[in-house]
Amino acid sequence: MKREVTMTFNMLDFIGEKKLGREHEPDQIAAFIKSLVKGEVPDYQTAAWLMAVRLNGMSESEATSLAKEMAYSGSTFDLSEFPNAADKHSTGGVGDKTTLIAAPLVASAGVPVVKFSGRALDFTGGTLDKLESIPGFKTSLPPAQIKKQAHDIGLVIAGASSDMVPADKILYSLRDVTSTVDSIPLIAASVMSKKIAGGAKNIVLDVKFGDGAFMKKYEDAFGLAKIMCSIGSQLGRNIRAVLSSMDAPLGRNVGNSLEIIEVVETLKGNGQFDLVELSLELASQMVMLATNQSDKTEVIAGLGKFLADGTALKKFEDLIKAQGGDVRIIDDYGLLPHSIYRYTFEAEKSGFISQMHAKDIGSLVRILGGGRFRKDDIIDPAVGVRIFKKPGDLVEKGERLVDVYYNNPTHKEIIEPDLSKSIAITENKPERKSLIRDL
Ligand code: URA
Repeated sequence: MKREVTMTFNMLDFIGEKKLGREHEPDQIAAFIKSLVKGEVPDYQTAAWLMAVRLNGMSESEATSLAKEMAYSGSTFDLSEFPNAADKHSTGGVGDKTTLIAAPLVASAGVPVVKFSGRALDFTGGTLDKLESIPGFKTSLPPAQIKKQAHDIGLVIAGASSDMVPADKILYSLRDVTSTVDSIPLIAASVMSKKIAGGAKNIVLDVKFGDGAFMKKYEDAFGLAKIMCSIGSQLGRNIRAVLSSMDAPLGRNVGNSLEIIEVVETLKGNGQFDLVELSLELASQMVMLATNQSDKTEVIAGLGKFLADGTALKKFEDLIKAQGGDVRIIDDYGLLPHSIYRYTFEAEKSGFISQMHAKDIGSLVRILGGGRFRKDDIIDPAVGVRIFKKPGDLVEKGERLVDVYYNNPTHKEIIEPDLSKSIAITENKPERKSLIRDL
C-alpha cells in the first residue's frame, strides 16, 4: 500500500527545520520519504538531515510517522495466512546470534517464524552476513518460496527484497557511514518499519543497553523500547520488548562463520550460559505472544527440551537445506570459511576478568573485515574473535584469553594494543550483573 503525497517538498527547508530542532509535520515526513525512494534526494542532503536528527532528536509522533512512511515506502509482505507468525529483532549487538537459536526453537514449538533480517551495522553484526558464511546459503528469496518454506518447515530467515522498505535501505547504509546510527528515533523507525512491512502479527524486540549497544544507558534503551512498542501497537501489532545488557560480547564467538559454529554448538546443547539464557528468553516471549500462553516456566521448559533432544538443531538444518546451504557444515566446521592467521592473546597478569568491552571487540572484528566501513565493502566471513575467558572468570598470567582470526597480515599490529585496552583484569571478583532486565 503506497500513499500519494501531493504537497511540494523542499529538502533544504526540511533539513533547516531539523537543524533548528523543530518538529516535522506528518505530511512533510511522508513527502521526504517519497522523494527519497524516488532517488530525488542526494546522499549529502540525506546525510545532513540524519545528522540534524541525531543531534536534535524527534518527538514520538515524528518517529511514528517516519516508521509508518518507511514501512509503506515499498512493498509489504502478506503473512495474513499465518496469524500466529512471530518475529524478533535486536537493536544490534556484538556476538549476538540469538536469532539463529531462538528462531529454530520457536518454529520447533509450532509457531511459524518468517524473519527479514539485517546486515552488520557499525560495530555490530548482522544475521544475513552470518548466514551467508554458510556455503550456498541464499538470503534473497522470492515471495513464493518464503510462503512455501513457511508452510513446509515453519522457518524462513531472509533479507527483505529490494522493493521492501527501500527507505530503510537508503537511510540504514547512510547512517552506517555518517556516524548517525545511535539515534533513538532513527533506530525506532528503522526497526519498526521493517517489522511492520515484514507482516508478522507478533513481534518481540531485544533492546540492548551498555558498552556494545547503540544505547549505552539503560534509561535510553528503555525509552527506545517504549517508543518501538508504542509504534508497533499503534500500527496493529502484538509487541513486547526485552532489555538486555551488551557490556560484554554475547557467547564466545564474534565474527560471521565463527558465530555459525557457535550457533550449531548451542543447538547441540553445548551453549554458553549467557547466550542460552537470552535465546530462551526471546524464544519464550515469541511463543507466549503468538499462542497466548502465560506460564513462562512451562514454555521455557518445553523449549529447553527442543534444545536438549536435537529438535531445534534439526530445524536449523531444515532451514539451511531449504535456503540452498551446505548442511554438512553441521558436522564439519572445516567447510565454513576460515582465516589464514591466528593470534593468541594471553592474560597480562593473574586475576579476574572484570571487563571485556563489547564495542572494542566488535570494532576490531569490523577492522579485520568482518563488518563494513563503506556501503559497498565486502565482508570477510572468516575473520573474528574466539573468547576463552569471560567477565568474572579467574585467569592466570599467560593463560589464553582470546584467539583472533585474520587474513590481512598487517592487521597483526593492531590486535595486541586493541585487546590490551578492551580487556581488564582485577584482583577482586567483579559483581555479576544480570543479563536481562525487566521492562
Ligand atoms: N537495527 C536496525 O534494524 N536498525 C537500526 O537502526 C539499528 C539496529
